[in-house]
Amino acid sequence: MEKISRTKIIDLLATETFGAKVNVKGWVRTRRGSKQVNFIALNDGSTINNIQIVVDLANFDEEMLKQITTGACLSVNGTLTESVGSGQKAEVQALEIEVLGTCDNTYPLQKKGHSMEFLREIAHLRPRTNTFGAVFRIRHHMAMAIHRFFHERGFFYFHTPIITGSDCEGAGQMFQVTTMNLYDLKHDETGAIDYSNDFFGKQTSLTVSGQLEGELAAMAMGAIYTFGPTFRAENSNTPRHLAEFWMIEPEVAFNEIEENMQLAEDFIKYCLQWALDNCLDDIQFLCNMFDKELVDRLRFVLNNEFVRLTYTEGIKVLEEAVANGHKFEFPIFWGADLASEHERYLVEVHFKAPVILTDYPKEIKSFYMKQNEDGKTVRAMDVLFPKIGEIIGGSQREENYEKLARRAKEMGVPEKDIWWYMDTRRFGTAPHAGFGLGFERLLLFVTGMSNIRDVIPFPRTPNNAEF
Ligand code: 4AD
Ligand code: MG
Repeated sequence: MEKISRTKIIDLLATETFGAKVNVKGWVRTRRGSKQVNFIALNDGSTINNIQIVVDLANFDEEMLKQITTGACLSVNGTLTESVGSGQKAEVQALEIEVLGTCDNTYPLQKKGHSMEFLREIAHLRPRTNTFGAVFRIRHHMAMAIHRFFHERGFFYFHTPIITGSDCEGAGQMFQVTTMNLYDLKHDETGAIDYSNDFFGKQTSLTVSGQLEGELAAMAMGAIYTFGPTFRAENSNTPRHLAEFWMIEPEVAFNEIEENMQLAEDFIKYCLQWALDNCLDDIQFLCNMFDKELVDRLRFVLNNEFVRLTYTEGIKVLEEAVANGHKFEFPIFWGADLASEHERYLVEVHFKAPVILTDYPKEIKSFYMKQNEDGKTVRAMDVLFPKIGEIIGGSQREENYEKLARRAKEMGVPEKDIWWYMDTRRFGTAPHAGFGLGFERLLLFVTGMSNIRDVIPFPRTPNNAEF
C-alpha cells in the first residue's frame, strides 16, 4: 500500500481540496450497499461525524472485503471527493484498503440503542459509541477550559498530595492506604493497630480534598487552584456520587465570600460558554438523543445571574412550600442538611435559576469555615444547579487561630494531624476563601447525561471497580 500520511476525519470533513489523494484510518461503524458498491462509515474519534468510504467492490480482493465488519480497523488510501449522499461535505473513493485489525462477531456494539446500564458493563468499549465519544471529548474540552480560566486570571496550578494523613472534610469517609499485611496486623499495648510498622509510619488515606494544602499555597502564591482526583468512601449509591471523582479547588488570599461567589459564577459561565463554542457538534448530538432542552438550559444559565440568598432564607422558602402542600421525602427545618430534593426545589421550582446559598448552620459544615458573629452560622456557600443539586461547595475560611483551634477541637479534628495547617494562622494569617467544583457534576450539566457513572471513563462506586 502506498505510504501517505494520515489525515484525521475532522480535518477531512472540513477541507475543500477535493481530488487530493488522502489516507484515513479508523473503525468501521456501519457497512451497507449493493453487489457493486459499498459504503463504509468510518470513525476515528476526532469528531462525532463519520467519513463515508465508497468502495467499488470489483477493484478489491474478496477475502479482504469479508474482513470489513462493524468494529474492524481500516487504513484507506483514496481520493477525497465532494459528497452528495452521505450527509457530509466530503467522502473518500477508496483506491487501496488495508485491514489493520479484524473484529470478530462477538463484538458487543453491533447494533444501535444499547442501554446505559449495558454500556457500563463494557466500559472498555463504550468510548467507541457516539454517545461516549461525545461525552469524553466534552470532558477533555472542559478540562482545557478550566486550566485556561485560571491561567488567564493569574492563578497557579498547584499539585496537592493524593496520599494524606488528615481528613479535610472531617466526615470520616476515607479509603485507607497501607502496605501492612492485613492477615498479620501488629497491635500496641492498648490493642490498637500499630501503624509505626506501616509504609509511612502512620495511618494514611486517599485524600477527600486538596483544600488544606491548597490554602497553604494561597498563603504564599496568592491565588492557586488544584485539579485532581479525590476519593470518598461514602456508601451513597446515587446518580450523583462517585467514590473516585475529580475536583477543582481554587483558593484565593484576601478574597471574602462575595468575591468567592463571583469567582464561582464567572468560572461556571466561562466553562459553559467554552462548551458551546468548542463542542457544539457533540452537545447537539446529546441534545437530540437524550435531553431536548440541553442547549436551552446551557444558554439560560449563561444569560442569567445566579440567585443569592442565605440558608435561613432558603429554609423559609422550603417551609412555605411544605405549608402550601408540597411533599418532601426528608423533613425540613432550620438546622437540617439540605437533601437534593430541597436544593432542586429551590432551583427548579421556586427561583427557576441557579442559586448560591450562604451562611449555613455550623453544625452541618466543616471545621475550617469562617464563623459568623451570630455564633450559629458559618460563611459557607453552596452553588445549586438545575437537575444536579449541589455543584460547588465552598466558604470563606476562619483565619483566626483561636477560633479555628476551638472549632477543630469541638469537631474532633486532631491537632496532631493539622498542626501545619494551623501554622498559617500563626504566621501572617489573612482572610481567604475558596471552593470545590465537582468535575463530574459539571459534566452532568454540560452533557445532559443523567447518571454520573456515564461522564467518567471508568466509574468507581460501591461494589464496582472493574476495568
Ligand atoms: O462540598 P465538598 O465536600 O467540599 C469540599 O470538599 C471542600 N474542601 C471544597 C473547598 O472548599 N475547597 O465537595 C465539593 C464538590 C461538591 O459540591 C460536589 O460537586 C463534588 O465536590 N462532590 C462529589 N462529586 C461526585 N461524587 C461525590 N461523592 C462527591 N462529593 C462531592
Ligand atoms: Mg458540600
